[in-house]
Amino acid sequence: MDFSLNQEQLAAQKMVRDYVAKEVIPVVGEWDRKQELNPATLPRMAELGILGISIPVRYGGQGFDYITLGLVCEELERGDTTSRVIMSVHFGLNSLSLLQWGTEEQKQKFLVPQARGEKYAAFGLTEPGAGSDVVNMTSTARRVGDKYILNGEKMWISLASKAHHFLVIAKTDPSAGHKGMTAFIVTSDMPGVTTGDIHGKLGVRAGSTGWINMENVEVPVENRLGEEGEGFKVAMGALDNGRYTVAAGAVGLIRACLEESTKYAKERKTGGKPIAEHQLIKQKLAYMTNWYESSRLLYLKAGWMKNEGVRNTRETGLAKWVATDFSVQAALEAVQIHGSYGFSDEYPVERYLRNSKGGVIYEGTSEIHQLMQADYVLGNRDDKPLRCELPAYDAEYWQAEPEAVR
Ligand code: CAA
Repeated sequence: MDFSLNQEQLAAQKMVRDYVAKEVIPVVGEWDRKQELNPATLPRMAELGILGISIPVRYGGQGFDYITLGLVCEELERGDTTSRVIMSVHFGLNSLSLLQWGTEEQKQKFLVPQARGEKYAAFGLTEPGAGSDVVNMTSTARRVGDKYILNGEKMWISLASKAHHFLVIAKTDPSAGHKGMTAFIVTSDMPGVTTGDIHGKLGVRAGSTGWINMENVEVPVENRLGEEGEGFKVAMGALDNGRYTVAAGAVGLIRACLEESTKYAKERKTGGKPIAEHQLIKQKLAYMTNWYESSRLLYLKAGWMKNEGVRNTRETGLAKWVATDFSVQAALEAVQIHGSYGFSDEYPVERYLRNSKGGVIYEGTSEIHQLMQADYVLGNRDDKPLRCELPAYDAEYWQAEPEAVR
């Protein structure tokens, strides 16, 4: 078992760490207060190659492995949850689904511009009346000749008003439960598509979160992802990847809590000595270290399984549940260590606390993950290989230039 990171992984980690330190952390509080997405964020992430980090070079990406994707998400959320959320939807939920399920034409048309950061992407699964309860969504897709007509509303969609491409799940056979759902690539310029933003959120305030409305949207058959009736599997596969990025990001948030709390505990004095010398503060720092290290191992294991091409729904779900739950606890303790200052936005820890709460809700609530883990233990849920897996990482294939491919 090798716990070391290779040169490429270390280089990508350093690149993102430097970007976050220089360009993200200095302004993150300002954008959070404005409750707006920093307009520089998406273009800079595109320019640095982050939006295509683990996509093969032949599809416009940087050719790094899936562990690097996790490391990048950890570094991003060390500074800013909003930036990691962008990776979860644009990259985890959407681009990796195109890599997994897309035809060559779909990859060339949609994945290449997404990986290059020329187009932004989002994921339309959740509805006003269906979050955890995916199977009871009401969006429909009716086939008419060589088109599908889509109707419905998607809600709590990150990047809804910024994305050019949406991966939308709708019902093609409403009587067939999860076997009656189909996945489509919908573009924001299709007539009948409207989007808007949601304001007044507890956390991820600088993030773009909104809704997508579809009214008689004509989607060509060639934009169907997977076969008719495979939409639930496409969605669950997408979540296997999105949840991985959420888990890794939550580990970055725990690290932020630990680092800020350690710094503050060494500076702040009570009773004539730094609070870091009080046993109850030490205990909190020790717990945060425990939460950081244990969650990190879980996401790295899931990343390793992805590299190997092994089904990882169970391990990714566990990593997401544990890391996000621990990030809430770490943020609570970070605020407590900061005392009254932790209660004000003079310090970042109040933002960490508000942001941490999103992670235990989106991409499967902690309760959904607990049910899934229990069902694995009870033998009610299996981990059999799928018809369509995320491809295993193959450095030679991922890094080959397009010219060499032709
Ligand atoms: N990959 C591919 N196929 C999968 C799969 C996966 N990971 N998981 C399940 N499937 C397949 C199963 O093999 C099964 O196939 P067969 O019928 O051929 O056997 C089929 O899908 C049904 O699977 P289950 O019986 O496991 O489905 P379920 O009904 O038990 O699942 C659930 C229930 C786990 C609660 C699921 O509905 C779920 O995960 N809900 C949470 C949804 C969620 O996370 N939403 C977040 C929205 S995205 C978001 O928040 C992003 C944003 O923009 C902020």
